[in-house]
Amino acid sequence: MNKFFMSKLNFLSSANLINVYFIKNIRATFLILVGLLLSSFSFSLSANKMPESYRQCIACHGEQGEGNTQLKSPALAGQSANYLNRQLLNFTNGLRGRHEKDVLGMQMVAISKQLDLNTEVPQITTFLAALPSPTIEHQVTGDLKNGDRYYQARCGACHGGQAQGNPSMNSPKLSGQSIDYLRRQMINFSTGIRGTHSDDKLGRQMAMMSKTSSGKELEDIFYYISTQK
Ligand code: HEC
Ligand code: HEC
Repeated sequence: MNKFFMSKLNFLSSANLINVYFIKNIRATFLILVGLLLSSFSFSLSANKMPESYRQCIACHGEQGEGNTQLKSPALAGQSANYLNRQLLNFTNGLRGRHEKDVLGMQMVAISKQLDLNTEVPQITTFLAALPSPTIEHQVTGDLKNGDRYYQARCGACHGGQAQGNPSMNSPKLSGQSIDYLRRQMINFSTGIRGTHSDDKLGRQMAMMSKTSSGKELEDIFYYISTQK
């Protein structure tokens, strides 16, 4: 082979290399662009965007629906939308928060009445139901074995074995909730502050159930609930 031919061959193969490199890069650039497009698309699908109407709730229930113990506001994150819808409806139609001793429930009556039940309420509750349950530092103790036993026998059939709630029984999630709040609701149910209205079938059912447990047994039940995620 003469020199001229060799250099021509070299030139050809390096031109080829450049070509291959260029094509590969175009492919890579194209793939990166497609990837970016796809990821931003799936992000917009999975992002749980806070509805405007939830902003007025943040002061008490927190940005992530985690609740506020000092303000005695329950956690709402991870609760079933069905249950939350019903409570917001109950606050407006006199089924909850009307008893003269229900000072905290009354707060919610005024707030719920400002919401549009057909548009804003479903937006808010869909947003809340999709949020992860908050991690709460519980300050309760008790007998875990007894608590588990009492809980499974008296509450689990409706609220689920891990207190995760049971939509088919219309029963809310109790785990991931402030025990102070749960305790107050049990007192409200058992003393006729909540769950007495003749149209409040589910509240009346729970009012009856609230009479099955009190004192140390109920505290053990709360302790069991506090250990569930
Ligand atoms: C001023 C504080 C405050 C604001 C603002 C507020 N809440 Fe509440 N909310 C409470 C308190 C306190 C309770 C507990 C009432 C009780 O103890 O019965 C409550 C209870 C609830 C419950 C019942 C939860 C359950 O587990 O049964 C829902 C649902 C709720 N609030 C939704 C909302 C929404 C939605 C907003 C905004 C539109 C809102 N709240 C704004 C204080 C507030
Ligand atoms: C027969 C089914 C049933 C049983 C058994 C039952 N519950 Fe309930 N519970 C319900 C339903 C339904 C609701 C929702 C009521 C409503 O929509 O107002 C409820 C609501 C509650 C609430 C209010 C939650 C909130 O976010 O405000 C608490 C607390 C509660 N139950 C605790 C208990 C405990 C503790 C036991 C066992 C001692 C128990 N429940 C047994 C059906 C049941």
